[in-house]
Amino acid sequence: MNLSHLPLLFNSKQTVITIESPITERFKILEFVYELAQNKLLPLYFWNTGYSELQLFNDNQRLISTKYKCFSGLSWLLQHPDVPGIFVFEGAISPDILTGMLSQQTEMMLSNLVYDLDANSVPRFLICLENYVELPHSLTPLIPVLVNPLPSAIAITTLVQDLCDCKLTTNSTQQLETLIRTCLGLPLGELEMLLKRLSRFTHTLEELIDGVLNYKKSKLKGQGVEFISEPDVPQAAGLDLLEEILERAAVLLKPEAKQHNLSFPKGMILWGPPGTGKSLSAKLAAKKMGVPMVAADWAALRGATAYESRKNLREFLQFCDANGEHGLVLYFDDFDKGFAGFDSDRDGGVSRQLAGKLLTWMQERTSQVLVMATVNRLEFLPPELIRRFDEIIFVDLPHTGARYEIFKLHLAKYFPGLDFCEKDWLRLLRETKLLTPAEIALMVRKTAEEIFYQNAQKFPTSELGKRPLNVSVRDFLEVRYAKRRPSGYRTLLLA
Ligand SMILES: Nc1ncnc2c1ncn2[C@@H]1O[C@H](COP(=O)(O)OP(=O)(O)OP(=O)(O)O)[C@@H](O)[C@H]1O
Ligand SMILES: [Mg+2]
Repeated sequence: MNLSHLPLLFNSKQTVITIESPITERFKILEFVYELAQNKLLPLYFWNTGYSELQLFNDNQRLISTKYKCFSGLSWLLQHPDVPGIFVFEGAISPDILTGMLSQQTEMMLSNLVYDLDANSVPRFLICLENYVELPHSLTPLIPVLVNPLPSAIAITTLVQDLCDCKLTTNSTQQLETLIRTCLGLPLGELEMLLKRLSRFTHTLEELIDGVLNYKKSKLKGQGVEFISEPDVPQAAGLDLLEEILERAAVLLKPEAKQHNLSFPKGMILWGPPGTGKSLSAKLAAKKMGVPMVAADWAALRGATAYESRKNLREFLQFCDANGEHGLVLYFDDFDKGFAGFDSDRDGGVSRQLAGKLLTWMQERTSQVLVMATVNRLEFLPPELIRRFDEIIFVDLPHTGARYEIFKLHLAKYFPGLDFCEKDWLRLLRETKLLTPAEIALMVRKTAEEIFYQNAQKFPTSELGKRPLNVSVRDFLEVRYAKRRPSGYRTLLLA
């Protein structure tokens, strides 16, 4: 249920309700509840532990102090059965941060209020506003939890048009779309504050987009989430099958697919030995499908306590849903690392709980988010989680044809225009049979460094930039068979 169900709940005499929403949305929610209060001819009060009196939300949409002294919202409400109104209490039912549990007293007061407010003839409604809500089982049937959803693209468009009108011109349609896409995932109140602040310092839409993007990036970074960095090569060579799978997935993003009840795939696992191009392929996947990508570190999403971990994951998945209206790749690199010891309950079962939450979300989500995970050890993942992925793609060592393509891609970076005769190619490919793409990439880079070093010995510095790096297959093979880990000391041959 979300915030729009609030009037319905009020009308069905539900007197205690919780709303889950970030703190930045306080005024947006008060404005929304104020209209309902007006319809019911009731005053709207607000309180949190920062106030020692109840605050009245007035016609000017401001909070003003009242005569009612209040140090504990819930007990105040129990002690004043004759004061009518809608009471919005922020943080009144926050759990203990270590255990994630409500105190027994709070739990009892809440259940007392459910029965008291309902039985009383004076109309009173309690709304508990919390960042994240986990009610104990005893209260779940009594108190509904409403979610304040992150704004849709339409709501953001209205806000942007209101606040940034002067920066919009008739030919800025495309930039406006980019700005709206960049704003997705931020709550409305927070976005309003941000846009107002940025509008003062920026002159063009481009600067505004940069400002929002930087803000979003730094906010996410604090939660172990990053917008993905550029891959080091423009394509992953030789992985034709994967390319085809991605192409097929991209087609499912077309709105027409929905008319046939077809949806974007839920998840893909790229599994294989180190250095075979899993992370590179995942990074390129979003580009290939033309959708944005966010990378999350599964291990870093975990907070100091189990409660905090659940809260982080919940917020993060909501963020993905908000950004995934038109397709998003959610990328978990080295996903298996976060599940080591999953079965052991050594971490108090937190891994298990989080995996369960991810699993439910993957099952139920309606947004177009494709989870892409890379793993070395598939057996570390819980089997019920593996089952949720549509495709498990094993990325093996490259065959000869793929190695040829990989070489060409990396050679082009340092030796533009370089090619070998057939005999040389065959030799190079034969001698690099068991190398992973990462090792091939490293070998090509090391050879380029070596040739540059040799040039630096022979030519003046002023010429080094212009001089091409001349190389032969033999140079590559020398690097290939060079001692893997030199000791650091030059070997002294004693007579
Ligand atoms: N198919 C490919 N084509 C071209 N270059 C590749 C390919 N695969 C890997 N590489 C090169 O190898 C590097 C390392 O690859 P990547 O990080 O994707 O490996 P990985 O499979 O994720 O390894 P790990 O399991 O250790 O995380 C890439 O940055 C790229 O330079
Ligand atoms: Mg990797």
